[in-house]
Amino acid sequence: MNVLIVGGGGREHAIAWALKKSPKVNKIYAVPGNAGIAEIALCYPEIKSGDFDKIAEFLKKRKDIGLTVVAPDNPLADGLVDFFNERGHRAFGPVKSAAQIESSKAFSKQFMKKYEIPTARYEVFDDYVEAVKYALSSKHPLVIKADGLAVGKGVYVCENTRESKHAIDELMQNKKFGKSGEKIIIEEFLEGPEITILAFSDGKTFAPMVSAQDHKRVFDDDKGPNTGGMGAFSPSRFYTADVAKDFKENIMKKTLDGFKKEGIIFKGVLYFGLMLTSEGLKVIEYNARFGDPETQVVLPRLKTDILDIFNACVDGTLSKLKIEWEKNCCVCVILASGGYPGEFEKGLPITVKDIDDDVMLFHAGTAKSGRKLITDGGRVLGVTVCGKSIVDARAKAYKNIESIKFENMHFRKDIGIKK
Ligand code: AMP
Ligand code: GLY
Repeated sequence: MNVLIVGGGGREHAIAWALKKSPKVNKIYAVPGNAGIAEIALCYPEIKSGDFDKIAEFLKKRKDIGLTVVAPDNPLADGLVDFFNERGHRAFGPVKSAAQIESSKAFSKQFMKKYEIPTARYEVFDDYVEAVKYALSSKHPLVIKADGLAVGKGVYVCENTRESKHAIDELMQNKKFGKSGEKIIIEEFLEGPEITILAFSDGKTFAPMVSAQDHKRVFDDDKGPNTGGMGAFSPSRFYTADVAKDFKENIMKKTLDGFKKEGIIFKGVLYFGLMLTSEGLKVIEYNARFGDPETQVVLPRLKTDILDIFNACVDGTLSKLKIEWEKNCCVCVILASGGYPGEFEKGLPITVKDIDDDVMLFHAGTAKSGRKLITDGGRVLGVTVCGKSIVDARAKAYKNIESIKFENMHFRKDIGIKK
């Protein structure tokens, strides 16, 4: 089967890499893709992932594509899978109404409240004055979030009322994330280690993948603003058998039951962003897709043919498939552009010398200028290595980073060391 991937980041490179291992996959296409994906797939940089008409036109021309994997949040939230379904194309990913579980935090919080899924206590505001009044009289730290999508940057953890006021101003008055911040969520601050569980779903069952942990803050020791993720590792040592039991009974099952009662048919990957608090596991957020960079450490551990899993999700036959995982560990360190998650320069030349054979160098924001590899995004590369232990894998990742250079390259030195 020939497969099209929509997207062009490290997650999409990891998906392409996993598909490439399948003997059942013939050609892989990607829109827009990136310079790394182009090494294993035919990329079309001129077709952006939000350009539904151009993608449909491309599918019509290339009649040989049997499945399209829609990976990023925005096209899912905007209904690209519905658009494909209406045109008779098979697509892996949730339809728009199901993707709402990510694209509206107000929707997902109400869903959790209704189905008694443990999460932080919260209030929703669409009035600026009311929001400020509430925040100023609340106990801090306090967490303030944009309702809609904000490239992973719409969450403010506020230590005091000055920071809360600033966050509300940014979202509601300065419209930093446009319409996404017209409605905001103000919620209680939770403490504890974070765990990501991605689960395949065919609309009837969930098949959870191995656990992972993401490092969201830009600087070492979890300092600085939130990013899309500066690195990840798998498995999480906090995801013990007891925690897994808690997850399956109190979160995964209740989520599935809730979906069924609401008539939500979720096909694709559901991302459970969890926090292990002193009161047990709580949901910080749902995403309607593979996480990035978590995917870069989870898919290298997958033994089962990923095409079989994608097809089972689309066809509703997931319960018949046994999904197997390697018993190893995996670490991914993101090399970012200086300035990210704020302003950064693009187009800087990247040099890569003598990378070990067992390193998977997933490209996140790269492009080609002639034959030269250049930076093309905030997160540029994901240096991913598997090993016997996290310590072993992270040592190999950091050793290999010494062979990669671009101006103002920035990365965290503590990926894989998580309290
Ligand atoms: P989200 O986009 O909702 O996952 O939030 C991004 C990050 O902000 C999370 O991964 C947490 O690190 C942090 N965060 C979000 N909500 C809370 C909360 N209620 N308490 C503490 N930290 C939070
Ligand atoms: N790494 C967090 C996310 O994909 O949303």
